[in-house]
Amino acid sequence: MKITVVGGGSTYTPELIDGFARLGLPVTEIALVDPDPDRLDVIAPFARRILARQGSSAKITTTADPDAGIDGTDAVLFQLRIGGQAARHVDETFPHECGCIGQETTGAGGLAKALRTVPVVLDLAERVAKRAPNAWIVDFTNPVGIVTRALLDAGHKAVGLCNVAIGFQRTFADWLGVDHERVALDHVGLNHLTWERAVRLDGVDVLPRIFDEHGQALADRLRMPLDVVRRLGVVPSYYLRYYYAHDEVLREQLSEPSRAQQVAEMEGDLLKMYADPALTEKPTLLDKRGGAYYSEAAVQLVHALTADTGDVRVANVRNNGTLPFLPDDAVIEVPSRIDAQGATPLPVTAVEPLFAGLIAHVTAYEELALEAALHGGVDRVATALLAHPLVGQVKVAEELAAKLVAANRAHLWWA
Ligand code: G6P
Ligand code: MN
Repeated sequence: MKITVVGGGSTYTPELIDGFARLGLPVTEIALVDPDPDRLDVIAPFARRILARQGSSAKITTTADPDAGIDGTDAVLFQLRIGGQAARHVDETFPHECGCIGQETTGAGGLAKALRTVPVVLDLAERVAKRAPNAWIVDFTNPVGIVTRALLDAGHKAVGLCNVAIGFQRTFADWLGVDHERVALDHVGLNHLTWERAVRLDGVDVLPRIFDEHGQALADRLRMPLDVVRRLGVVPSYYLRYYYAHDEVLREQLSEPSRAQQVAEMEGDLLKMYADPALTEKPTLLDKRGGAYYSEAAVQLVHALTADTGDVRVANVRNNGTLPFLPDDAVIEVPSRIDAQGATPLPVTAVEPLFAGLIAHVTAYEELALEAALHGGVDRVATALLAHPLVGQVKVAEELAAKLVAANRAHLWWA
């Protein structure tokens, strides 16, 4: 089996390689596609050392040409970042001037990222459809909800992936002292807008026990007061803090370096470590990145899709009536059955108004964001922002739209 990683020069790639080797998929070739040859020169030799250490005979190939990397592949992972950390820094800071939080996937920053990313991803997906028509696309490229919807609307074989659910599953399993495969989540919402409504250990909901025995650890992890988490009665993802504590987050952001700046520094250190010929394992510094367990989630998904296992995994999929208050063509993030036909959402019990309202609101934004990404124009950008619950005012939406376009001109085909 050949796997293609678009954005293969990412500092996450070693973790992915480690996952493929450790979890024993029958992989013969991993093609790393990246426009940056310097990155590939460091990542590829390190990836080979990781494989050798794990006793894997898979070969690593590298190319800047997506067509060459995609040719004859069985699965393609998209993990690219248009504009790199520099563009991310802009996403995380320009909204501040309008009194809004800056974040790479949420709010105006997330819209900027969608506008830069969707056309590139669609072009790559066309290449996949031509050169490897049976291959599955697994998209980890953010904003995953919007990008996955773009891929599905264009008719591609795609599933969207995020590591938030697997992160909770592993944390809860650790706290409970059990094997993670025994823990299943009632995870509902949109990408980066999700809540865990139940944590089932062998089918029995142990969320009340987690609140009782690990409440403070949970509140610390979410950076929310314990009484607020208790009142919600569910576990919100980290990204809900941008809504529930918007002004507090904004104040913090104004006094700290951006996440992009922090990540850029870490990436410099990681690349130096990766270049050491003695290094054969991913360094612990990588655990400071947000993508923990991304590799395992990706490997699980590729395995389920290519081996037709029918495993249940949290994925970004078409709604198709699962959440009856959303259009069928919305993309939602819920536990899904994964097999050779793709990802099929499992039924979801009625979603409480506190969550359903926000889900519906952000779904409308995502639809308008995709319109803006596909057709361009500052007016469409302002309209999408007007629909976003963290913006919502005409004047703010217009100002943000103008700033977004001005700062991203180099990456927008229409600006
Ligand atoms: C989490 C999210 C990813 C995001 C990452 C950012 O893993 O699920 O979608 O890309 O955090 O991590 P970083 O280390 O780049 O801030
Ligand atoms: Mn994610």
